[in-house]
Amino acid sequence: MNNVVKQVIFPAHLPEIIADVSAMQHRCLEARQAGRRISFVPTMGYLHEGHLSLLQEGRRRGDLLVLSIFVNPAQFGAGEDFESYPRDLSRDVDLARRCGVDLLFAPEVKDMYPRGYSTFVDVEGITDTLCGASRPGHFRGVTTVVAKLLAIIQPHQAFFGQKDFQQLTVIRRMCTDLNLPVEIVGMPIVREPDGLAMSSRNVNLSPQEREQALVLSRAISKARQMARGGAREIAEILTALRSMLEAQPALRIDYLQIAHQSTLQEQERVDADSVLFLAVFVGRTRLIDNGFLLS
Ligand code: PAJ
Repeated sequence: MNNVVKQVIFPAHLPEIIADVSAMQHRCLEARQAGRRISFVPTMGYLHEGHLSLLQEGRRRGDLLVLSIFVNPAQFGAGEDFESYPRDLSRDVDLARRCGVDLLFAPEVKDMYPRGYSTFVDVEGITDTLCGASRPGHFRGVTTVVAKLLAIIQPHQAFFGQKDFQQLTVIRRMCTDLNLPVEIVGMPIVREPDGLAMSSRNVNLSPQEREQALVLSRAISKARQMARGGAREIAEILTALRSMLEAQPALRIDYLQIAHQSTLQEQERVDADSVLFLAVFVGRTRLIDNGFLLS
Protein backbone atom coordinates (compact mmCIF):
# COMPACT_ATOMS: atom_id res chain seq x y z
CA MET A 1 0.00 0.00 0.00
CA ASN A 2 2.73 2.40 0.92
CA ASN A 3 4.88 2.46 -2.23
CA VAL A 4 2.34 4.55 -4.01
CA VAL A 5 1.52 6.69 -1.03
CA LYS A 6 5.16 7.53 -0.30
CA GLN A 7 5.67 8.95 -3.76
CA VAL A 8 2.92 11.48 -3.31
CA ILE A 9 4.38 14.97 -3.28
CA PHE A 10 1.20 16.97 -2.80
CA PRO A 11 0.54 18.62 0.54
CA ALA A 12 -1.77 16.30 2.44
CA HIS A 13 -4.98 18.02 3.42
CA LEU A 14 -8.14 16.40 4.67
CA PRO A 15 -10.63 15.86 1.86
CA GLU A 16 -13.96 17.62 2.22
CA ILE A 17 -16.47 14.80 2.69
CA ILE A 18 -19.84 15.37 1.07
CA ALA A 19 -22.81 12.98 1.24
CA ASP A 20 -25.50 15.28 -0.10
CA VAL A 21 -26.09 14.97 -3.86
CA SER A 22 -27.11 18.60 -4.52
CA ALA A 23 -24.33 19.99 -2.32
CA MET A 24 -21.83 17.92 -4.30
CA GLN A 25 -23.22 19.05 -7.63
CA HIS A 26 -23.18 22.66 -6.50
CA ARG A 27 -19.60 22.45 -5.19
CA CYS A 28 -18.32 20.91 -8.45
CA LEU A 29 -20.19 23.36 -10.67
CA GLU A 30 -18.71 26.23 -8.71
CA ALA A 31 -15.19 24.83 -9.16
CA ARG A 32 -15.77 24.29 -12.86
CA GLN A 33 -17.03 27.85 -13.31
CA ALA A 34 -13.96 29.11 -11.47
CA GLY A 35 -11.89 27.45 -14.23
CA ARG A 36 -10.63 24.47 -12.27
CA ARG A 37 -9.95 21.27 -14.18
CA ILE A 38 -11.82 18.45 -12.42
CA SER A 39 -10.41 14.91 -12.22
CA PHE A 40 -12.80 12.23 -11.02
CA VAL A 41 -12.13 8.71 -9.73
CA PRO A 42 -15.27 6.63 -9.06
CA THR A 43 -14.82 3.68 -6.67
CA MET A 44 -16.68 1.40 -4.31
CA GLY A 45 -14.08 2.09 -1.60
CA TYR A 46 -11.86 -0.18 0.48
CA LEU A 47 -9.05 1.51 -1.40
CA HIS A 48 -5.89 -0.26 -2.52
CA GLU A 49 -2.94 0.68 -4.70
CA GLY A 50 -4.95 0.14 -7.88
CA HIS A 51 -7.34 2.90 -6.80
CA LEU A 52 -4.46 5.04 -5.59
CA SER A 53 -2.77 4.88 -8.99
CA LEU A 54 -5.92 6.39 -10.52
CA LEU A 55 -5.98 9.10 -7.86
CA GLN A 56 -2.34 9.95 -8.46
CA GLU A 57 -2.88 10.32 -12.17
CA GLY A 58 -5.99 12.40 -11.50
CA ARG A 59 -4.01 14.62 -9.15
CA ARG A 60 -1.27 15.05 -11.76
CA ARG A 61 -3.68 15.97 -14.53
CA GLY A 62 -6.23 18.15 -12.75
CA ASP A 63 -6.72 21.02 -10.29
CA LEU A 64 -9.58 19.55 -8.29
CA LEU A 65 -9.42 15.84 -7.42
CA VAL A 66 -12.76 14.20 -6.68
CA LEU A 67 -13.14 10.64 -5.35
CA SER A 68 -16.48 8.90 -4.98
CA ILE A 69 -17.05 5.96 -2.67
CA PHE A 70 -20.38 4.26 -3.22
CA VAL A 71 -21.11 0.55 -3.07
CA ASN A 72 -23.71 0.56 -5.80
CA PRO A 73 -26.51 -1.97 -5.15
CA ALA A 74 -27.72 -1.70 -8.77
CA GLN A 75 -24.65 -3.54 -10.07
CA PHE A 76 -24.90 -6.53 -7.70
CA GLY A 77 -27.17 -9.44 -8.58
CA ALA A 78 -29.30 -11.42 -6.13
CA GLY A 79 -27.02 -13.67 -4.09
CA GLU A 80 -23.91 -11.61 -4.90
CA ASP A 81 -21.75 -9.88 -2.27
CA PHE A 82 -23.39 -6.44 -1.91
CA GLU A 83 -23.94 -6.89 1.84
CA SER A 84 -20.52 -8.34 2.54
CA TYR A 85 -18.55 -6.07 0.20
CA PRO A 86 -15.67 -4.69 2.35
CA ARG A 87 -16.22 -1.17 3.68
CA ASP A 88 -14.00 1.06 5.84
CA LEU A 89 -14.60 4.77 5.32
CA SER A 90 -12.17 6.08 7.95
CA ARG A 91 -9.29 4.09 6.45
CA ASP A 92 -10.29 5.32 2.98
CA VAL A 93 -10.40 8.95 4.14
CA ASP A 94 -6.84 8.64 5.40
CA LEU A 95 -5.61 7.17 2.09
CA ALA A 96 -7.56 9.81 0.16
CA ARG A 97 -5.89 12.52 2.22
CA ARG A 98 -2.46 11.12 1.42
CA CYS A 99 -3.30 11.17 -2.30
CA GLY A 100 -4.38 14.81 -2.21
CA VAL A 101 -8.12 14.21 -2.75
CA ASP A 102 -10.01 17.50 -2.49
CA LEU A 103 -13.60 16.27 -2.41
CA LEU A 104 -14.82 12.86 -1.29
CA PHE A 105 -18.37 12.09 -2.38
CA ALA A 106 -19.94 9.34 -0.26
CA PRO A 107 -23.69 9.37 -0.91
CA GLU A 108 -26.23 7.05 0.64
CA VAL A 109 -28.23 4.53 -1.37
CA LYS A 110 -31.51 6.25 -0.50
CA ASP A 111 -30.22 9.51 -2.02
CA MET A 112 -28.81 7.98 -5.21
CA TYR A 113 -31.91 5.82 -5.76
CA PRO A 114 -34.77 7.62 -4.02
CA ARG A 115 -38.30 6.25 -3.98
CA GLY A 116 -39.70 6.35 -7.50
CA TYR A 117 -36.29 6.09 -9.17
CA SER A 118 -36.96 4.70 -12.69
CA THR A 119 -34.13 5.56 -15.11
CA PHE A 120 -31.43 3.14 -16.24
CA VAL A 121 -28.67 3.35 -18.83
CA ASP A 122 -28.10 0.21 -20.88
CA VAL A 123 -25.21 -0.25 -23.31
CA GLU A 124 -26.13 -3.05 -25.72
CA GLY A 125 -23.99 -5.68 -27.45
CA ILE A 126 -20.63 -5.45 -25.68
CA THR A 127 -22.39 -6.14 -22.38
CA ASP A 128 -23.67 -9.53 -23.59
CA THR A 129 -20.32 -11.33 -23.20
CA LEU A 130 -17.78 -12.05 -20.44
CA CYS A 131 -18.91 -10.49 -17.11
CA GLY A 132 -22.14 -9.36 -18.79
CA ALA A 133 -23.04 -12.97 -19.58
CA SER A 134 -22.25 -14.33 -16.12
CA ARG A 135 -23.64 -11.33 -14.17
CA PRO A 136 -26.88 -10.32 -15.93
CA GLY A 137 -27.79 -6.70 -15.19
CA HIS A 138 -24.35 -5.90 -13.76
CA PHE A 139 -23.31 -3.43 -16.47
CA ARG A 140 -26.73 -1.79 -16.48
CA GLY A 141 -26.08 -0.99 -12.83
CA VAL A 142 -22.53 0.21 -13.55
CA THR A 143 -23.47 2.47 -16.47
CA THR A 144 -26.45 3.87 -14.58
CA VAL A 145 -24.41 4.85 -11.53
CA VAL A 146 -21.47 6.16 -13.58
CA ALA A 147 -23.83 8.27 -15.71
CA LYS A 148 -25.35 9.69 -12.51
CA LEU A 149 -21.94 10.36 -10.96
CA LEU A 150 -20.77 12.10 -14.16
CA ALA A 151 -23.93 14.24 -14.12
CA ILE A 152 -23.40 15.19 -10.47
CA ILE A 153 -19.66 15.90 -10.67
CA GLN A 154 -19.33 17.00 -14.32
CA PRO A 155 -15.61 16.25 -14.42
CA HIS A 156 -13.32 17.14 -17.30
CA GLN A 157 -11.73 13.69 -17.00
CA ALA A 158 -12.57 10.42 -15.27
CA PHE A 159 -10.13 7.59 -14.49
CA PHE A 160 -10.84 3.86 -14.76
CA GLY A 161 -8.61 0.79 -14.41
CA GLN A 162 -7.92 -1.78 -17.11
CA LYS A 163 -8.37 -4.37 -14.37
CA ASP A 164 -12.06 -4.10 -15.30
CA PHE A 165 -11.33 -4.08 -19.01
CA GLN A 166 -14.90 -4.70 -20.14
CA GLN A 167 -16.21 -2.02 -17.76
CA LEU A 168 -13.77 0.51 -19.27
CA THR A 169 -14.88 -0.43 -22.80
CA VAL A 170 -18.56 -0.15 -21.83
CA ILE A 171 -18.07 3.25 -20.17
CA ARG A 172 -16.18 4.63 -23.18
CA ARG A 173 -19.06 3.43 -25.39
CA MET A 174 -21.66 5.05 -23.13
CA CYS A 175 -19.83 8.41 -23.08
CA THR A 176 -19.44 8.39 -26.87
CA ASP A 177 -23.04 7.35 -27.50
CA LEU A 178 -24.52 9.87 -25.06
CA ASN A 179 -22.11 12.67 -26.10
CA LEU A 180 -20.97 13.11 -22.52
CA PRO A 181 -18.32 15.84 -22.40
CA VAL A 182 -15.74 13.92 -20.37
CA GLU A 183 -12.40 12.34 -21.23
CA ILE A 184 -12.19 8.71 -20.09
CA VAL A 185 -8.65 7.77 -19.09
CA GLY A 186 -7.75 4.05 -18.84
CA MET A 187 -4.98 3.08 -16.41
CA PRO A 188 -2.83 -0.10 -16.23
CA ILE A 189 -3.54 -2.95 -13.81
CA VAL A 190 -1.68 -2.64 -10.50
CA ARG A 191 -0.51 -6.00 -9.13
CA GLU A 192 0.86 -7.37 -5.87
CA PRO A 193 4.59 -8.20 -6.11
CA ASP A 194 3.68 -11.87 -6.74
CA GLY A 195 1.38 -10.98 -9.67
CA LEU A 196 -2.09 -11.06 -8.11
CA ALA A 197 -4.13 -8.13 -9.46
CA MET A 198 -5.12 -5.80 -6.62
CA SER A 199 -8.79 -6.01 -5.72
CA SER A 200 -10.89 -4.96 -2.74
CA ARG A 201 -12.17 -8.55 -2.70
CA ASN A 202 -8.68 -10.03 -2.10
CA VAL A 203 -9.17 -9.55 1.68
CA ASN A 204 -11.80 -12.29 1.54
CA LEU A 205 -9.24 -14.93 0.45
CA SER A 206 -7.87 -17.39 3.00
CA PRO A 207 -4.07 -17.93 2.82
CA GLN A 208 -4.60 -21.14 0.79
CA GLU A 209 -7.03 -19.41 -1.57
CA ARG A 210 -4.65 -16.45 -1.91
CA GLU A 211 -1.96 -18.91 -3.03
CA GLN A 212 -4.26 -20.60 -5.54
CA ALA A 213 -5.39 -17.20 -6.90
CA LEU A 214 -1.87 -16.69 -8.26
CA VAL A 215 -2.80 -19.03 -11.09
CA LEU A 216 -4.73 -16.18 -12.76
CA SER A 217 -1.68 -14.05 -13.48
CA ARG A 218 0.33 -17.18 -14.21
CA ALA A 219 -2.24 -18.21 -16.79
CA ILE A 220 -1.86 -14.81 -18.48
CA SER A 221 1.94 -15.22 -18.54
CA LYS A 222 1.58 -18.75 -19.92
CA ALA A 223 -0.78 -17.60 -22.70
CA ARG A 224 1.56 -14.75 -23.57
CA GLN A 225 4.52 -17.10 -23.64
CA MET A 226 2.64 -19.48 -26.00
CA ALA A 227 1.51 -16.62 -28.28
CA ARG A 228 4.93 -15.03 -28.37
CA GLY A 229 6.42 -18.44 -29.09
CA GLY A 230 4.26 -18.63 -32.24
CA ALA A 231 1.02 -20.34 -31.09
CA ARG A 232 -1.93 -18.83 -32.96
CA GLU A 233 -4.75 -21.34 -32.42
CA ILE A 234 -6.83 -19.95 -29.57
CA ALA A 235 -8.45 -23.33 -28.87
CA GLU A 236 -5.00 -24.80 -28.22
CA ILE A 237 -4.02 -21.99 -25.83
CA LEU A 238 -7.32 -22.22 -23.94
CA THR A 239 -6.98 -26.00 -23.52
CA ALA A 240 -3.55 -25.53 -21.93
CA LEU A 241 -4.86 -22.79 -19.62
CA ARG A 242 -7.94 -24.75 -18.64
CA SER A 243 -5.89 -27.66 -17.34
CA MET A 244 -3.60 -25.27 -15.49
CA LEU A 245 -6.58 -23.63 -13.75
CA GLU A 246 -8.39 -26.89 -13.05
CA ALA A 247 -5.35 -28.19 -11.16
CA GLN A 248 -6.26 -25.76 -8.32
CA PRO A 249 -8.83 -27.48 -6.07
CA ALA A 250 -10.45 -24.30 -4.65
CA LEU A 251 -10.89 -22.75 -8.08
CA ARG A 252 -13.92 -22.82 -10.37
CA ILE A 253 -13.75 -21.21 -13.80
CA ASP A 254 -16.53 -18.71 -14.53
CA TYR A 255 -15.17 -17.83 -17.96
CA LEU A 256 -11.92 -18.13 -19.86
CA GLN A 257 -11.84 -16.41 -23.24
CA ILE A 258 -9.60 -14.73 -25.73
CA ALA A 259 -11.41 -11.86 -27.40
CA HIS A 260 -10.83 -8.74 -29.50
CA GLN A 261 -9.93 -5.71 -27.36
CA SER A 262 -12.63 -3.44 -28.86
CA THR A 263 -15.51 -5.69 -29.92
CA LEU A 264 -14.98 -8.16 -27.05
CA GLN A 265 -15.99 -10.89 -29.51
CA GLU A 266 -14.27 -14.27 -29.21
CA GLN A 267 -11.50 -14.90 -31.70
CA GLU A 268 -10.19 -18.07 -33.31
CA ARG A 269 -6.65 -16.93 -33.96
CA VAL A 270 -4.34 -14.71 -31.94
CA ASP A 271 -3.52 -11.25 -33.28
CA ALA A 272 -2.31 -7.91 -31.89
CA ASP A 273 -5.84 -7.14 -30.58
CA SER A 274 -6.19 -10.37 -28.60
CA VAL A 275 -6.89 -10.07 -24.88
CA LEU A 276 -7.18 -13.01 -22.50
CA PHE A 277 -10.11 -12.57 -20.10
CA LEU A 278 -10.44 -14.67 -16.97
CA ALA A 279 -13.06 -14.84 -14.24
CA VAL A 280 -12.86 -17.49 -11.54
CA PHE A 281 -14.30 -18.25 -8.16
CA VAL A 282 -11.62 -19.04 -5.58
CA GLY A 283 -13.72 -20.49 -2.80
CA ARG A 284 -16.59 -18.00 -2.59
CA THR A 285 -14.62 -15.02 -3.93
CA ARG A 286 -14.96 -14.05 -7.59
CA LEU A 287 -11.77 -12.69 -9.15
CA ILE A 288 -11.13 -11.31 -12.64
CA ASP A 289 -7.97 -10.56 -14.57
CA ASN A 290 -6.95 -9.89 -18.16
CA GLY A 291 -3.96 -9.21 -20.36
CA PHE A 292 -2.97 -8.62 -23.96
CA LEU A 293 -1.23 -11.58 -25.57
CA LEU A 294 0.99 -9.91 -28.13
CA SER A 295 0.99 -6.15 -27.57
P1 PAJ B 1 -14.04 -0.55 -7.83
O1 PAJ B 1 -14.01 -2.03 -7.97
O2 PAJ B 1 -13.88 0.06 -6.48
O3 PAJ B 1 -12.94 0.04 -8.78
C1 PAJ B 1 -12.79 1.44 -8.94
C2 PAJ B 1 -11.79 1.68 -10.07
O4 PAJ B 1 -10.52 1.15 -9.70
C3 PAJ B 1 -12.20 0.97 -11.38
O5 PAJ B 1 -11.97 1.83 -12.48
C4 PAJ B 1 -11.28 -0.23 -11.40
O6 PAJ B 1 -11.00 -0.70 -12.70
C5 PAJ B 1 -10.03 0.35 -10.74
N1 PAJ B 1 -9.18 -0.73 -10.22
C6 PAJ B 1 -9.54 -1.74 -9.39
N2 PAJ B 1 -8.50 -2.58 -9.19
C7 PAJ B 1 -7.47 -2.10 -9.91
C8 PAJ B 1 -6.12 -2.52 -10.13
N3 PAJ B 1 -5.64 -3.62 -9.56
N4 PAJ B 1 -5.35 -1.79 -10.96
C9 PAJ B 1 -5.84 -0.66 -11.56
N5 PAJ B 1 -7.10 -0.21 -11.39
C10 PAJ B 1 -7.90 -0.92 -10.58
O7 PAJ B 1 -15.16 -0.59 -10.61
C11 PAJ B 1 -15.88 -0.18 -9.69
O8 PAJ B 1 -15.43 0.04 -8.41
C12 PAJ B 1 -17.35 0.16 -9.90
O9 PAJ B 1 -17.89 -0.66 -10.89
C13 PAJ B 1 -17.60 1.65 -10.26
C14 PAJ B 1 -16.92 2.05 -11.59
C15 PAJ B 1 -17.10 2.58 -9.13
C16 PAJ B 1 -19.12 1.90 -10.43
O10 PAJ B 1 -19.81 1.55 -9.29
